Amino acid sequence: MAKLWAGRTSGATDALADDFNSSIRFDRRLCREDIAGSMAHAAMLGERGILTGEEADAIINGLQSILDDLDHGTLEIDPKAEDIHMFVEQVLTERLGDVGKKLHTARSRNDQVALDLRLHLRHETDALSEQLRALVAAVADTAEENRDAIMPGYTHLQRAQPILFSHHLLAYAMMLLRDLDRLADCRKRISVSPIGACALAGTTYDVDRRFEARLLGFDEIAQNSIDAVSDRDFCVELLGALSLVMMHLSRFSEEIILWTSWEFRFVTLSDAFTTGSSIMPQKKNSDMAELVRGKTGRVYGDLMATLTMLKGLPLAYDKDMQEDKEAVFDAVDTVKQCLEVFTPMLRSMAVHADNMKRAAQAGFINATDLADYLVRKGLPFRSAYNISGKLVSECIHSGCVLETLPLEVYREYSTLIEDDVYAAIDLRTCVETRISEGGTSPASVEKQLAWVRRRLGET
Ligand code: ARG
Repeated sequence: MAKLWAGRTSGATDALADDFNSSIRFDRRLCREDIAGSMAHAAMLGERGILTGEEADAIINGLQSILDDLDHGTLEIDPKAEDIHMFVEQVLTERLGDVGKKLHTARSRNDQVALDLRLHLRHETDALSEQLRALVAAVADTAEENRDAIMPGYTHLQRAQPILFSHHLLAYAMMLLRDLDRLADCRKRISVSPIGACALAGTTYDVDRRFEARLLGFDEIAQNSIDAVSDRDFCVELLGALSLVMMHLSRFSEEIILWTSWEFRFVTLSDAFTTGSSIMPQKKNSDMAELVRGKTGRVYGDLMATLTMLKGLPLAYDKDMQEDKEAVFDAVDTVKQCLEVFTPMLRSMAVHADNMKRAAQAGFINATDLADYLVRKGLPFRSAYNISGKLVSECIHSGCVLETLPLEVYREYSTLIEDDVYAAIDLRTCVETRISEGGTSPASVEKQLAWVRRRLGET
């Protein structure tokens, strides 16, 4: 295909250079956005009298025919084209002759590519948000279905205090809701139209940037043409937001992997979301969760690659910026794929409240409650803490737990302790009395659940 930009040079480039330079392999996914952007551009050129109404209509119809043919498979994207923008313009010109050559009036590929990418990522951000909302709903439903299950809460991966499993799950709902906020915030800055900035300096034609922006559903236009073609912050922001989504999914995955181990056995994943081993017949592995955890690194890599690519670039457009697309597309694809699997994996997960309870009973996780009991009997907290610690040590030596330690032994450590101690350290009491806002009491967890549902707009 002859170079549209031949003139200054012969345009006869080395095949290796062509291959190296070409972005069609990955920017072909911008073809709908490119055509939509070009239609809006032609409409604007017609509206402003820069092209005649007939010329604008011919271009719009020509673009529509290209889209239809691509959809019907009667036109293939040429893998040898330099990029999607050149490909569409080339086909248009083949079909319309000289009129097709008028499309690029008052435009550059620099504002065109920024436009296409923004249109595309706005759409992808909406799709990702929808998927995230579905996951938050699944987390909320799982919490609600298992609202009473008690499990040990951990710090340092050591049993710490009893909590409701639903409380633990809702912690993830909160993280994911913040991720949704971040995507919504990021979308605002994606949805700014760069078109009309042209190469970098604006244009001599009497264009209407706002008309074009409105047609494409943009809320705002970029205020500075140099910034409009140089800015890729919106990609970095999206990659940052997606990195956080993956970080959250990865921590969740790590816990699910732990919980499915025989050592924990808090949950079982459905067979549909596990794999076996090629040699060990007994194995049921949590590969989906492991892959989500593993793919987190690649999304972080996409973020780092983009930040690094941008850091030394002089204004305005530099070809380095072509590298933005593979990174951001890879991150979008990866997160979508992960969410697609994670949500049904969670929904089909069986929860073993009995195993959670058993684990909660074995690790002295009511020692803080014993100290609080002594505080209620009049001791300062630090002294109460000390006695409770000694009683745990006594239990470890005599092979029992606080619930089964005889009252006489308790009283050897403090005569403030009476028969009501057993009710005070009962795991259900421990959970029910943590009534502070955001705490693990059932009433508080109900409130959190309602809050999450409200945020999801389900109430
Ligand atoms: N394929 C290019 C990219 O992805 C399009 C913009 C090319 N602009 C230019 N001045 N060469 O960035």
